[in-house]
Amino acid sequence: MRHPHTRTALMNAAPTTATPTRTAPAARRRRLLGTVTAALLCTAGIAPLTLTAPAVAAPAKAPVEAHGESPRAPEAPALADGLALTPPMGFNNWNSTHCRAEFDESMVKGIADLFVDKGLKAAGYQYVNLDDCWALPQRDADGKLVPDPARFPHGIKAVADYVHSKGLKLGIYTSAGTKTCNSAGFPGALGHEYSDARQFADWGVDYLKYDNCNNQGVDARSRYTTMRDALKATGRPIVYSICEWGENKPWEWAADVGHLWRTTGDISDNWGSMLSILKKNLTLAPYAGPGHWNDPDMLEVGNGGMTATEYRTHFSMWSVMAAPLLIGSDLRKASQATFDVLGNKEVIAVDQDPLGRQGTVVSSEGGRWVVAKEMKDGSRAVALLNETATAQRIGTTARAVGLPAAPAYTLRDLWQHRSLHTAGTIAATVPAHGTVLVRVSAGSGWAAHPPAVETGLDSAPFVTDGTPATLTTSVTDLGRTPATRLTVSLSGPEGWTVRALSASGTAALPAGGTLRTRWAVTAPAGTPIGSYDLTLKASYRSPAGLRADSTVPLTASVVVPPPAGTSYLGDLPWLSAVNGYGPVERDTSNGESAAGDGHPITLGGVVYAKGLGVHADSAVEYYTGGACTEVTADVGVDDEKGGKGTVAFEVWADGTRVASTGVLTNAMAAQHLTADVTGAQVVRLVVTDGGDGIDSDHADWADARLTC
Ligand code: GLA
Repeated sequence: MRHPHTRTALMNAAPTTATPTRTAPAARRRRLLGTVTAALLCTAGIAPLTLTAPAVAAPAKAPVEAHGESPRAPEAPALADGLALTPPMGFNNWNSTHCRAEFDESMVKGIADLFVDKGLKAAGYQYVNLDDCWALPQRDADGKLVPDPARFPHGIKAVADYVHSKGLKLGIYTSAGTKTCNSAGFPGALGHEYSDARQFADWGVDYLKYDNCNNQGVDARSRYTTMRDALKATGRPIVYSICEWGENKPWEWAADVGHLWRTTGDISDNWGSMLSILKKNLTLAPYAGPGHWNDPDMLEVGNGGMTATEYRTHFSMWSVMAAPLLIGSDLRKASQATFDVLGNKEVIAVDQDPLGRQGTVVSSEGGRWVVAKEMKDGSRAVALLNETATAQRIGTTARAVGLPAAPAYTLRDLWQHRSLHTAGTIAATVPAHGTVLVRVSAGSGWAAHPPAVETGLDSAPFVTDGTPATLTTSVTDLGRTPATRLTVSLSGPEGWTVRALSASGTAALPAGGTLRTRWAVTAPAGTPIGSYDLTLKASYRSPAGLRADSTVPLTASVVVPPPAGTSYLGDLPWLSAVNGYGPVERDTSNGESAAGDGHPITLGGVVYAKGLGVHADSAVEYYTGGACTEVTADVGVDDEKGGKGTVAFEVWADGTRVASTGVLTNAMAAQHLTADVTGAQVVRLVVTDGGDGIDSDHADWADARLTC
């Protein structure tokens, strides 16, 4: 069923604070310009914010069933053994150690100790799992597996006993092949299923991760089913984790084979990897349920390759997807920040909800995601995820996420641990790569909480160095009661000046009312072109005197006005550039993955001295400040890949596509393209893959010019 949006005014539900930890301070202040267009579309393009103005871009997709009406997959019956009725929680060493020597008995025991001492056991973490490389390469004379005596001098049973003595459970790993995945060639269980399962059970193993390497081409379903039967034959309850990387669509056949199945290849400790796995796993929501879970792989939280904001997104989204929560960092070296993420009980409760629903996508447009998970108590966990590199306003409504009509709703922020109420809108300005995670419930309790406010930027986020720019912010009361004693402040990076040009406070903002404030924002002369963080804060009280505040990140872009006359786009600074392979090149073809490795731009044998060489999927944005009229170029697939490559070109003026070519192949002559960009703040040059994947899609904006 499709729910109409009841109210679409944006609000802010007390978002998380964004503090990238790994970024150097200077870099933090001046991130390279990211995806600015999305921010622009969210701000410049919108009508003045009123309670009826659709300030949130409409979802690209219809609100998909995010709740009880979700179509359930026709699924095989789950294993009727009562195991993994909620997604397994625990630890696995792989992401932190791989096969390095530090993976040993003392690590495993140390993790078990920390599970107890740091409250992780109390938070629900239970399984301490060994991954690859625990065994010797050779079986013994009886065909039995032999634990590596250097790593596990007392054997696996001793480790299991220790882990059990702490009230925890032990997991182990092998492969549904002749050898495991590591090149050292440890024994796999193919053909040894019953004997190996017996050995695991005798050691006291409670969980098996069964990998897919060296499988000899034997049918996956039969390999994984044999091990299921072998585990069952031991009589010991053992959680069974199928790890065939989603290659044979296990979600379609494994519900009565294992308790969880990997849906993708291996995760690595970076934003791109996590995000691509997340997107694949999101599509499989109908297949998950108690005793049979989608497994988007183990957590990277704390391993150092992502920012604190990104790790909160990772943990939030794994929880909304009812994913197994297997800690992948060496907790013996973990920071308090890592424990704070992994130990967030309100987020864990989303993951472990007994209804066992995986969250579904309510809307997704321009990197702004709304994902909602139906909870057993009728509430919804709602994740507002910002995939882009600039702060974004993201919103939905209580009805769109499946809640019943109600006078108001309680809105619990699961990272800030505080409750507000809303008349129906759920929205926030979310930091780059951040996620705001709230739990929303209908019912009478809302009146005890202050109203939520939505705070954000209403104007285009552009600033020219040394010259005051006028930015407009707004604060809207989304509740049923006034926000009293409201004060609003805006601050910029060091050296910037920010001055209010209109009222930045009010005695009482009525329910549904908006306070809009204009600010003069000045970046010091000489501030380099780039993206900069501003912080908008609203403090207020409920009618009962309860204090509340909302602090949100905004992204401002320092730009230079476009030059008058006609310029080559390859000579102008861009606002942002995204490219499918290597960097965008100026005045050469894309070349390979290194910077500066292109060739002369060549289309159908004609060589061009000027232009941009890109690779699908690509988007290059220019600040045009309403001062330009036209973009022209000769476009096509560059000759550098022989006959290969199919792409399509588009030119966008703010949110409107003003020119497009359709699919072009290498065999086609260059096409001349003219785009009217009159009045646009930002012009975006887009190259898509022509619908057949990005292989060999080397595209040229030859002779590309901008007239202002
Ligand atoms: C595969 C699995 C990983 C890990 C390694 C161990 O790549 O997908 O999760 O277990 O093998 O070698």
